[in-house]
Amino acid sequence: MNQKIERLQLYDTHEKIIGAAMALNHLPGGPIVSGFAGEKLGAAVRSSELILTLHRVPRKPGNKREDMIAANALLLQKVCRAMADENPNAFLAIATNPINSMVPFASSILYKYGIYNPFKVFGITQIDIARTRTYTAEALQVSNQNLFVPVIGGHSAETIIPLFSYMTPVEHVVNPCQADTLTQFVRKLGTEIVFQKQGSGSAVVGVAHSINEFCDTLIDAINGKEVEATCYSANPYFGSRFFAGPATIGPYGIVQPFRKFPFNDYETFLVNSSVPFINRDVNLGEDYVKVLL
Ligand code: LMR
Repeated sequence: MNQKIERLQLYDTHEKIIGAAMALNHLPGGPIVSGFAGEKLGAAVRSSELILTLHRVPRKPGNKREDMIAANALLLQKVCRAMADENPNAFLAIATNPINSMVPFASSILYKYGIYNPFKVFGITQIDIARTRTYTAEALQVSNQNLFVPVIGGHSAETIIPLFSYMTPVEHVVNPCQADTLTQFVRKLGTEIVFQKQGSGSAVVGVAHSINEFCDTLIDAINGKEVEATCYSANPYFGSRFFAGPATIGPYGIVQPFRKFPFNDYETFLVNSSVPFINRDVNLGEDYVKVLL
């Protein structure tokens, strides 16, 4: 129902996507939706300005996000192949888990196909901002309407880093104990939902809402505005090759990835302890390229 989207082209390996697309066309005021299945991936991505990938397979209780590489990488590789053949200049936004590994994986694949543009590959970590906002507002007993806490790092239990020292409005303050409790809580929420859903999938509606929030801003960038949006992308500033944080994005992609700025001691500790995990996840993603190509 995002009014900025004119056409939505859905792809799945299975033909049932055609029915899903038909059903979405019944929503008045929405975009024109078409379904593409099987061998039609090239046609699905051909004229898109923004290509968005989701999980092919959600987590089950007991799975870590990194366990999902084998389940989700093949389809992402096919999307990259289709981009190389049909639409090398599109923005690629990846919500496919494990995001920490899938963004480096797709980047390496696009590089092998000769079309890698680090400024146009985005991992979507917006759900961590939404969760932090909701539960911080609850802890402080304030409205979540205008509350904003930047979240940086990556999208996993060891790498999600809310920056409470940059929370706005500035009159809201969390003490160090609350910062630690909220950080540990928010880091586990995705896993907790997978557990509570007892094998029937992972968080869906909140993630969809957050993906739409991110894409909404990205569409503004595609349409010519310079915007700020949080994404996990190529980033040289933290000791890993990829890192999430608020980036400046324009019509040709990322203009300025998130840069280091002053952190408090707790945030510095979180950043330093996340980097080895991000490096491990980046290596897992890049190593998986050798399995497929
Ligand atoms: C989430 O955080 O809810 C998603 O990454 C899905 C998952 O498997 O946790």
